Amino acid sequence: MSSMDNPRICMREDGLHLSSPAPISGLRHENRLVRELDDLVEALRMILDNAYSGIILCDRDSRVLYMNRFYADLLKTNKDEALGKHIKDFFPASRLPGVLETGEMELGQRCSLRADVALVVNRIPVKMGGETIGVLLQTIFKDYTEINELMARLNLLEKEVKYYKRGLDTVLSATYTFDSIIGKNARIREAKRVAEKYARTNAAVLIVGATGAGKELFAHAVHLASKRRAGPFACVNCAAIPKDLLESELFGYETGAFTGARQKGKAGRIELAHKGTLFLDEIGDIPLAAQSKLLRVLETRHIEKLGGLKTLEVDFRLIAATNRDLRAMMDRNEFREDLFYRLNTMIVEIPSLSERTEDIPDLVRHFLYSMGKGSTRVSDSAMNILRSYQWPGNVRELKNMFERAVSLAEGDLINVDHLPYEIRTYASKCSQSPRTAFKPLAEELACYEKQILSEAISMNKGNMAKTARVLRVSRSTLYEKCKVHGI
Ligand SMILES: Nc1ncnc2c1ncn2[C@@H]1O[C@H](COP(=O)(O)OP(=O)(O)OP(=O)(O)O)[C@@H](O)[C@H]1O
Ligand SMILES: [Mg+2]
Repeated sequence: MSSMDNPRICMREDGLHLSSPAPISGLRHENRLVRELDDLVEALRMILDNAYSGIILCDRDSRVLYMNRFYADLLKTNKDEALGKHIKDFFPASRLPGVLETGEMELGQRCSLRADVALVVNRIPVKMGGETIGVLLQTIFKDYTEINELMARLNLLEKEVKYYKRGLDTVLSATYTFDSIIGKNARIREAKRVAEKYARTNAAVLIVGATGAGKELFAHAVHLASKRRAGPFACVNCAAIPKDLLESELFGYETGAFTGARQKGKAGRIELAHKGTLFLDEIGDIPLAAQSKLLRVLETRHIEKLGGLKTLEVDFRLIAATNRDLRAMMDRNEFREDLFYRLNTMIVEIPSLSERTEDIPDLVRHFLYSMGKGSTRVSDSAMNILRSYQWPGNVRELKNMFERAVSLAEGDLINVDHLPYEIRTYASKCSQSPRTAFKPLAEELACYEKQILSEAISMNKGNMAKTARVLRVSRSTLYEKCKVHGI
């Protein structure tokens, strides 16, 4: 009885099924072995027939001994009718006889099937006692388009990996150090001193200050001055993420936690901060439920992903920042008291820019330099306006304004005309309001003289001879006065 009559081997959708043989009583052991060998050969034939690549075995005369279904379909023939035919009946230019002669394997070779179809094949000699007795022809790819498609996919994947890696690097690495924080003002120096001291501990740090005052800069600097500097710096802007997504962003979720398109699990930012620092920007925007979860993580040092059963140990240092009054929020039951007191021990307070106007010239120089405009100067009258403005957007507003002013200025001088309208009008409104304080007259006059000189020089595009003529002073007097005023 052949295995065709005996359904012990059959191919199903999910694979090749072999059922164990029924106990055979009375048959001799050898008979049983022969039968099992037959079954194995049959199983092998079925595997080859159903393989997703073509296989042809030829004898020493290049005649087909075996052709699987894949090749038969490709050659539009019947695999049984193909038996005994010469390989050149199918591939007129076949190199298979050459392999029989040389006995050398040919891998990944192009082989034309029809004018429009080319395969990629291996030609593997079959040897017995050092003699080549046949050749196995095997397709690797059905055609070149398949390889091209594969390469295109690989390129795309490589690009995606690069893109995500870059994204991850910017999210997971800190760039600013305490040296990048510009400011001579006593309060900013004190903030730096305190923050540097806290950086050496492992406790949570809270950075408070108005928008654009430099909270994120300080968070970077604390991380880079800490023992965790080699670890990740995972940043989450709690105000920028929709409230209902914040928990999954922070804590991550397990595969299958949600129904819908994104079935695969995701690591939360807390997990990504392992061995490093977690920076929660705008912590005042975390909803109460997530606040409790965060507190639990801070206390237990374990996270529980959404939809997960296991907990995961995490070792991170928390730096939080806010421009909101957390105490007032706590009084209104909008911020958890226990979380507040946990954060409220190590505080770094950053002054607003209007409270440290003496730092404006240094900041301006720093921004011009980083924009590659190190030789650009700012006229004194423009600088006076900058120092009198309130800067609701703080250092960020100053930086943005300079990017604009630099593009407006044609030469190397930024004067009042290059400042935005609202800043200029703010200054003129201030100057119209009656003054309430005065410096000694000599100082007031010196200040006014400096402003006039700067304006005249900028109006004459830095031409000193022309400026001296306009002001009706000698050139040497002009130079002397400029030296006195530090122009
Ligand atoms: N002392 C400083 N020296 C140099 N650059 C600064 C300083 N402070 C702030 N900046 C720059 O100003 C911009 C805003 O700073 P940062 O993002 O740290 O502000 P923030 O307080 O976190 O603002 P927000 O509350 O809006 O998040 C950044 O481009 C930063 O580089
Ligand atoms: Mg910020």
